Formats: sequence, C-alpha cells, structure tokens
Amino acid sequence: MSTETSKITLGDENFELPILVGTEGERAIDISKFRGSTGYITLDDGYANTGATLSGITYIDGEKGVLRYRGYSIEEIAERCDYTETAYLLIYGELPSGDELEEFRRNIRMHSLLHEGMKTIFAGFPPDAHPMAILSSVVGALAIYCPDALEPSNPQHMELAIYRMLAKMPTIAAFSYKQSIGQPFIYPRNDLNYCQNFLRMMFGVPSEEYVADPDFVDALNLLLILHADHGQNCSTSTVRMVGSSTVNLYSSVSAGICALWGALHGGANEACINMLEEIHAAGGRLGKYIDRAKDPNDDYRLMGFGHRVYKNYDPRAKIIKEICHRLMKKHGMENSIFELAQELEEVALSDSYFIERKLYPNVDFYSGIIYSLMGIPKQMFTVLFALGRLPGWIAHWREMHLAPGGMKIHRPRQLYTGSAQRKFVPLIKR
Ligand code: SDX
Repeated sequence: MSTETSKITLGDENFELPILVGTEGERAIDISKFRGSTGYITLDDGYANTGATLSGITYIDGEKGVLRYRGYSIEEIAERCDYTETAYLLIYGELPSGDELEEFRRNIRMHSLLHEGMKTIFAGFPPDAHPMAILSSVVGALAIYCPDALEPSNPQHMELAIYRMLAKMPTIAAFSYKQSIGQPFIYPRNDLNYCQNFLRMMFGVPSEEYVADPDFVDALNLLLILHADHGQNCSTSTVRMVGSSTVNLYSSVSAGICALWGALHGGANEACINMLEEIHAAGGRLGKYIDRAKDPNDDYRLMGFGHRVYKNYDPRAKIIKEICHRLMKKHGMENSIFELAQELEEVALSDSYFIERKLYPNVDFYSGIIYSLMGIPKQMFTVLFALGRLPGWIAHWREMHLAPGGMKIHRPRQLYTGSAQRKFVPLIKR
C-alpha cells in the first residue's frame, strides 16, 4: 500500500504521520502510533471520521452512491448472482467456480437442522416476543449446542462455524416466526435452494405441500443480496468488536443481531412501515410529518431516510424500489403504502431541509413494502435484514482473524471529563 506523509504541529513540536492511500484513492492518516509519539489521542464521537481497519470486502462511495462487493458493482451482482454465490464472494473474496459453489451450497445444506434440544428454547419465549430478541438469543445458544467449533484460530473450526452459521440462521429465523404464530416448525429440505427453503419454513404447514411463488423467491434473493454487506456499519463493527476478543462466531453474530435491531440501523425497515402506516391512517397528509422531521426541537425522523455514508441516493434503495414496481405490476397488487412512500420521497427530495443535508431514501425505505407484499409480518423485517447481512458479518469476522500481522483486541481510548481526584465522604456525613 503506497504511503505519503503529513505533518502536524502540536505545541512547539512537529510530527510526521504516514498517509495510507486506498484502492480508489481515498486517503487515511495512520494514527496507530499517534499517542506513543505525541502523547495525544484523537476524538471522534460516533466514528464519523475514523477508519477502524483496512478491509478488502466492500467499497462504498457515499458521495456518488457507489457500492461494490469485492470490486463488483452491486447492480451487476444483483442482476447476475444468487445469494449463496454472493455470500461465497464476500466471505472468500472471489466469485466461485461451479464446483466451488456446489460444494459451498452442499456444506450449507448439510448443517441446516438445529439440535432438537434447541426447540425448548423457542417454547420458553412468550408469544409476543420480538423475533429479533429470539434470533439473537437462539444464535447465541449455538455456542452451547455446537461446542465443537468455537476456536477462530483453528481453520477447521472457522470453516465449520461459517457453514453452520449460514445454514442455521434461516432455520432459526423461520422457527422464531412459527413460534410467534403458534404454528408447528417446518424443517428445512435439502432439495430446495436457500430462498425457497426459507419461504417454505416460514409459510409452509405440515398438512399440505408448499411451493414458494417464484417471483417472491427472486425478490427475496435480491433483497438478501442487497443487504449482504455494507462496510463498517454499526452491526458489522459490533461483530468485529466482539469477535476481536477471540470469542466464537455465533456469539459475535448474536451481538451483531442486537446492534442491527436498533431503529437507527436495521430496525428502520420496521419503523419505516410503522411511520408510513401511521401517516396513511391519519389521512396521508405529509406536511405535518415533514415539518416534525425538520423541527430541531422534535426528535422525530423520517425512518428510512438519511445515511451516515450515502450523501446521494442509496443504490440499494433504487433497486428495491424497482422490485416493488415489478412485483406489484406482475401480481396486480395495489399498495397505497407504496404510493405514499413515493409521494413522501418526492416531497422530501424537493425540500431544502433534506436537500441541504443530502438526505435520501436508504435501504430501509422501500424494503418493508416488499416484505409486506410477500406476507412477511413487520416484526420479521429486521430478521430478514439480519439474514441478508449474515455473509457480511462472517466475511468481516473472518477477515479480521486472518488479517496479515494478526488481530488486535478492539479497545478504544477516551477523553476523561469527570471529577478530578477528591476526598472520600463517609456515609454518615452524606
Ligand atoms: C442502515 O451504516 C450503514 O451502512 C447502515 C446501513 C447498512 O446497510 O448497514 O446502510 C443500514 O442502518 C440505514 C439507516 C437506517 N436508519 C434510518 O433510516 C433512521 C433514520 N435516519 C437517521 O436517523 C440518520 O439519517 C442516520 C442514523 C441514518 C444517520 O445519522 P447521522 O449520520 O448521525 O446523521 P445526523 O443524525 O448527524 O444527521 C445530520 C442532519 C441532522 O440535522 P442537523 O442537526 O444538521 O440540523 O440530518 C438530520 C439530522 O437531524 N437528519 C434527519 C434524518 N436523518 C438525518 N432529519 C430527519 N429525518 C431523518 N431521517
């Protein structure tokens, strides 16, 4: 990696810092030795200006609305790959050959069942338990039921844990849904592809055959691909942070699921549909909601809008919007919520508040509409996001463990602003 240098003056001392230049010419000041040489630390609340790592997995140009997985544009991947092929690319870095892909899919199929003892975990949850809470709990429990592949430093353990994680997540997700509606679990089948299998486990019943609508299989495949990775986002950074302690993959992913659940992150797809339904139920008058979103004294936000990195239209939102149009046209579906979403987008994008702040629809703005069209309930929307993001979490966890020069535990510093040392006051005197 080519490096330049930069100079910084602190007090009456001058320091030289290496500049690292990325593949696309983006530049970073390497401060890995900054405190040692200057005695200073840097501060960056929310890490908006701080790179956590070098990574070769996903490239995002937020200003141009560009997204690439391992150098391939998201548009091309979405058009020409399926989800398991995309997962292979993200995790191992190259598009698989036919044999490599078939071997990868076979390994996933062979691990899709859960230990029967795990079914009692589901039975212990109340019917109204949120599926994201169930998902993070049961994924964490894989460290109990699959105790023979917990060491990331062991290549065989790493490989087996990756297959198991990819294979069991859809089963756990579908079982979470079945538990919440009081229906029997539908077991995975090895003669179905990843998306057919998931939809059958979600909507099938033991009393009759279930064949997933091919249009919904295609739509799900696309949605999972579009959600598969996105650099150092909150949940992926969580997986890296937790994984950096050398804990197993299941526990790292369980932590990532918790981070994704937040309404400012993956939980925005559920929050966005709730917002659109609320506006629709109130008569569809957008003005009041736009005004609230713009009001600095109101913490109300347009869910599915804005992004830490994209200051242009999220390329994934563009593709998802097209899928909405296609599905509704093909199935003759009317969707007043989709009409309202498009109207909201149009109004917001012509409003100076949103234009000045470069706030555009993000991946969560339209995705919930497709999930609704497929009959997936709102509480499962972020579970679908987690299912999509899983290969990205795994890819980053694996990249971190295999980083040249080894892996360091993540341990940020802080700038202490609390009390200076003071004399202790005994209870009797307080
Ligand atoms: C995802 O990181 C990733 O890559 C995430 C993700 C992925 O694939 O992993 O892309 C998935 O999480 C997408 C984002 C989903 N979240 C939402 O849709 C929730 C609504 N959006 C916002 O809360 C917000 O836009 C964030 C959280 C997404 C980004 O917040 P930032 O980068 O911290 O920006 P900010 O809060 O500092 O906002 C800058 C300004 C502020 O106004 P001012 O203080 O400058 O006056 O823009 C305003 C904000 O008030 N603003 C919004 C807004 N988002 C930002 N105002 C109204 N509605 C919004 N949605």
